[in-house]
Amino acid sequence: MNAIELARAIPKAELHIHIEGSLEPELIFQLAQRNGVALSYPSVEALRAAYAFTDLQSFLDIYYAGASVLLQPQDFHDMAWAYFLRAKADNVIHTELFFDPQTHTARGVPMASVIDGLSGACQKAEAELGISSALILCFLRHLSEEDAFATLQAALPYREHFIGVGLDSSELGHPPEKFERVFARCRELGLKVVAHAGEEGPPEYMWQAIDLLKVQRIDHGVAALQDPLLMAELAHTRLPLTVCPLSNLKLCVVNDLRDHGLKTMLDAGLCVTINSDDPAYFGGYMNANFEQTVAALQLSREDVVQLAKNSFEASFISDQRRAACMAQLRAVAST
Ligand code: HPA
Ligand code: ZN
Repeated sequence: MNAIELARAIPKAELHIHIEGSLEPELIFQLAQRNGVALSYPSVEALRAAYAFTDLQSFLDIYYAGASVLLQPQDFHDMAWAYFLRAKADNVIHTELFFDPQTHTARGVPMASVIDGLSGACQKAEAELGISSALILCFLRHLSEEDAFATLQAALPYREHFIGVGLDSSELGHPPEKFERVFARCRELGLKVVAHAGEEGPPEYMWQAIDLLKVQRIDHGVAALQDPLLMAELAHTRLPLTVCPLSNLKLCVVNDLRDHGLKTMLDAGLCVTINSDDPAYFGGYMNANFEQTVAALQLSREDVVQLAKNSFEASFISDQRRAACMAQLRAVAST
């Protein structure tokens, strides 16, 4: 097996996937019809043609519009189930799904509908596909910390259905320090904490995520390449970075995948992982991200195995589950 074939076959964990970003145009149209929601695009093709992004905000505008078709628990279930089928095909054996409750509660959708629909799909994926999974509730950083506190409060009755919190949406102008108090409260509650930082924002936002929010992983984090001290710190602590190569390409964080810093980070000893972010919008699920990155950066079989190992090292799973995942990985890596 060459490196690309190995990348396809190897068991892996996906740790940076916004479940609303897995909503394919076909399903958006199907749900719009089912729920009587009007869309501003006349067809699936017209919607897909609008997926030409220049930066994060140009994507977010369309992403939030797409999520407006989600109303009933069944809609959230169907969206997540479609993702799990794609994950299975790409040999993803564990996944931690971000969801954005404020995008839905602001439209009058009850928190219960969102969480019941998603967690039902997670249980079905475990039973029928053998994929373990967990939910991570993301706060929208363009909204206030007060709004984040209210969202946490509304989600607490469903505490057993999510393992942690994250921070996403428009990064520039909304530094991690804005959410220091709500993250402290989440840590007190025993929630895992992660945050998007260093996607479009500067290394300073990554330092804030580490020092003020005390995150256990950073989502994206490619800005670390601009800061040698931060690179050294991340190599030392192995604080994981969930990197999303096709997302970085589509949102113009890099101009060409051959310019992506993932290999540099891997060689520097950072715990980097490959993830799809918003696969329906960025042109590929996990294996597309692996294949195109392996090809562009000429990654070796050893690099591929390290990336898969990193994904389990970075996962919020039990030691027992981690050992089982690593054993599955070794079985495929040795072929
Ligand atoms: N960055 C910030 N917010 C997001 C993203 C992203 O890549 N995807 C969905 N929400
Ligand atoms: Zn993301």
